[in-house]
Amino acid sequence: MTKKTVVVTGASRGIGYQTALKFASEGFDVVAMARSKDKLGALCTEGGECITAAAVDLSDAAQITAYCRKLAASGTKIDYIVHNAGHLINKPFLELTDQDWYDLLEANLMSGVRLIRELHASLSRQAHIVLIGSMGGYQGSSKFPGLSAYSTSKAALAVLAECLAVELAANDIRVNCLCLGAVQTEMLAMAFPGFEAPVSAGEMGDYLYDFAVNGSRFFNGKVLPVSLSDPQA
Ligand SMILES: NC(=O)c1ccc[n+]([C@@H]2O[C@H](COP(=O)([O-])OP(=O)(O)OC[C@H]3O[C@@H](n4cnc5c(N)ncnc54)[C@H](OP(=O)(O)O)[C@@H]3O)[C@@H](O)[C@H]2O)c1
Repeated sequence: MTKKTVVVTGASRGIGYQTALKFASEGFDVVAMARSKDKLGALCTEGGECITAAAVDLSDAAQITAYCRKLAASGTKIDYIVHNAGHLINKPFLELTDQDWYDLLEANLMSGVRLIRELHASLSRQAHIVLIGSMGGYQGSSKFPGLSAYSTSKAALAVLAECLAVELAANDIRVNCLCLGAVQTEMLAMAFPGFEAPVSAGEMGDYLYDFAVNGSRFFNGKVLPVSLSDPQA
């Protein structure tokens, strides 16, 4: 059977790192994307030669284009994208600058927009794109002070999944957004200092692997909460 390929963004630490490792352990080729070359190097050492480090700043359109064109030229077909890279700024609304908003929208939303646009021609038929949202960006969920820009950027990602599922259906490509609750990572510690999450990054990595590979048989264009509780529930 032909080996399948996944692109995991935000793979240098936390949930993305564990997701990349899980795919590698299941025999997939993994394109692991993030900015930190040294941490991607550690991932490759731990996960083996089926992991390719892609040092790309996803807030930089030119870097995304250059890398995706290189990948397309190599003839690589992409079966799964787990767009997990994310940035968090924890600041009250009145202190957030325009630049803070632009930075979050670039890192959390435009990164996915550009990545999917550039990888589209390399996607296999029946590819599955999983966008990693947040409970903060899930309509009707509890909201928390300091996270307005972050949560808004994640809400936009959720609507993007709904829209892309319709537009890409002609090619049998499926798109879903998973809105994660608390997972024990560096980002959680920034958002909710001192809070202990009920789920580890490793457990969530295993779940994202399973959802990416099997979820598209059951879901398309869905925005799904993946949460045991909100951090302050
Ligand atoms: N942990 C939680 O409780 C939780 C809850 C809800 C949603 N989420 C979402 O789950 C995802 C993973 O979260 P996490 O907790 O594992 O976060 P994390 O530990 O802070 O890791 C974030 C990852 O994103 C990468 N990244 C950030 N900006 C980037 C950029 N401009 N270009 C390329 N890569 C970039 C980072 O790598 P570099 O710094 O090396 O670039 C890192 O690998 C995020 O989208 C987050 O919003 C997490």
